[in-house]
Parts: sequence; structure tokens; C-alpha cells
Amino acid sequence: MTRAGRRALVSGASSGIGEATARLLAAEGYSVALLARRAPELEAVRADLAQVSGPQHLALVADVRCPAEVREAVDAVAAAYGALDLLVNCAGVGYRARVAELEPEPLRGLFETNVEGLLLLCRQALPLLRRGERAVVVNVSSVVGRRGIPGQVAYAASKAAVHSIGEGLRIEWAAEGIAVCTLAPALTATGFFQAQPNPSELAAPDLSGADEPARVARGVLALDRRPAPERSLRYKWHALGLLSLLAPRLADRILVRRLGGSWRAPSR
Ligand SMILES: NC(=O)c1ccc[n+]([C@@H]2O[C@H](COP(=O)([O-])OP(=O)(O)OC[C@H]3O[C@@H](n4cnc5c(N)ncnc54)[C@H](OP(=O)(O)O)[C@@H]3O)[C@@H](O)[C@H]2O)c1
Repeated sequence: MTRAGRRALVSGASSGIGEATARLLAAEGYSVALLARRAPELEAVRADLAQVSGPQHLALVADVRCPAEVREAVDAVAAAYGALDLLVNCAGVGYRARVAELEPEPLRGLFETNVEGLLLLCRQALPLLRRGERAVVVNVSSVVGRRGIPGQVAYAASKAAVHSIGEGLRIEWAAEGIAVCTLAPALTATGFFQAQPNPSELAAPDLSGADEPARVARGVLALDRRPAPERSLRYKWHALGLLSLLAPRLADRILVRRLGGSWRAPSR
């Protein structure tokens, strides 16, 4: 099968990085099943894709936190495509809050979406990936998945879990012939920051130097073409993650300087 005939499922495809990924894959000739909760946004993307490359794309309205909805969505992919060559786990939410301000419900929702939802979708899609051609899974993490940061401790922890899932899963599924990749985008200009809970209105990041979602989408496509265990889209963050293991105090000081604001590096 040529790359052009590949069958993909993209979660989080109603906006931002997932939408950009779906658009790029469709432009490259993939059949794309789009999954997210917001039906009108999802249907609008599907309709655009249909205009550009045909009617084979699917809009699957589902909440990754809900096992029955995930099962139903994957069943629809099975009925339409019979197999999956690429699964992109992009659905995710943020939580901008100091630990002192965390509330149980959004905290649970964060881990249910970013961690449990990703695992559920992987589990549910496995039989289709087994039938796929050179099947690839790309899990969208974040540069903060390899380096915790203040004000987003819970979010960074959920993305650290995504890195850990990638490490274990790529060995579990090697025998299945399925490549598992972790992609760590840096700051990207999407609606992510408006959507996330921010109870004490911590300063939102300056998006002026942020990546465009299309750049991350190209990172997903590159991993499908040439799978790699892990790819960070910012080498400085990658280096900071390594430094955090080797010289954590130095890494803290560098991070605090980079973040600015009122954060302080620990003095002891
Ligand atoms: N923007 C950044 O700076 C940045 C940096 C690094 C990593 N990331 C990661 O990139 C991914 C995409 O984020 P984005 O920046 O593109 O933000 P976004 O535009 O807010 O996209 C998030 C997507 O996830 C979907 N989603 C959220 N909860 C869901 C649920 N329970 N079930 C199904 N779908 C759900 C949303 O769709 P519905 O609301 O329609 O369900 C939306 O399509 C996330 O995993 C995020 O952590 C973002």
C-alpha cells in the first residue's frame, strides 16, 4: 500500500494540532477518522476534508473519557476502513494552576483525558492496528512531559505519563509490528490556553514566538514516515529535560530565568 492509501484516526481533531494534523494527512492522501466531542467543529473539518480529497473521512463524536463512546467510535472506523495504519492521540486538556489551587473535578478530568483516554483509545484501536500496514501510533505529549514546571504541575505530570506510556508501549507492541512514538511539541498557537481551567488567572504564555499547529502536524507526518521513539520540537527543552536528571538545581535556575514572573529557584 502506498502512503497515500493510509488509514488514520486522529483524536482531538476538532481544533488546534489535531485539526492541523487531520488536514495535512488528508492532503497527503490519507483517509482520516476525526474524533472529538464538539460535533459542529468536527463536522466542519470533515466537510472541508471531503471537499479537498473525497468523502472517505469520518467525523466521530466521542469523549475519550467514556469507554462506550470510544468503543463505538472505533467500531465505526472498523466498519469503514477495516484496519488502521496510524493512530494519533492528540486529544488533551490543560490545567494552569498552582498545586494549592487544584480542584478535584478538573484534576480528575485532566488525567482521565490526557492519560486514561489515551490508553483507552490505544487499547480499543489495537485490533485495527494489528490489521494495519506498518502501523504507527503517535502520542502527542509536550516538552513539559520531560521537565515539570511551576503553575502547570498537574498538566506536566499528565504528559510525563504520556512519555512513560510511550516507553512501555513501544516494547509491548514491538512484537505486534506496531511502532509507538512520542511527540513533544513546545508552545503552539491554538485555543488550548483559553480552554484550560486557570482559577487564579496565572499569566497565559506569550504566543508571539509560538509554533503554528501545522508545524506539529508535520512532525506527526514525519513520524509516520520514519517512526522514532521520541521527538521533541524544541532542542532547548529536550536539553533541559536531560539536565534536570544530571544537575537538577542548575536546571531549576535556568527554568526560572526562562519563565520569568515571580517564580523562585529553591535555595536549599
Ligand atoms: N498548544 C500547545 O502549546 C501545546 C503544547 C504541547 C502539547 N500540546 C498538546 O497538544 C494536544 C492538542 O492541543 P491543542 O494545542 O491543539 O489544543 P486544542 O485546540 O484545545 O485541542 C484539544 C483537542 O482535544 C480535544 N479533546 C479535549 N478533551 C477531549 C475529550 N475528553 N474527548 C475527546 N476529545 C477531547 C478537543 O476537542 P473537543 O473539545 O471538541 O472534545 C480538541 O480537539 C494536547 O494533547 C495538548 O496537551 C499543546
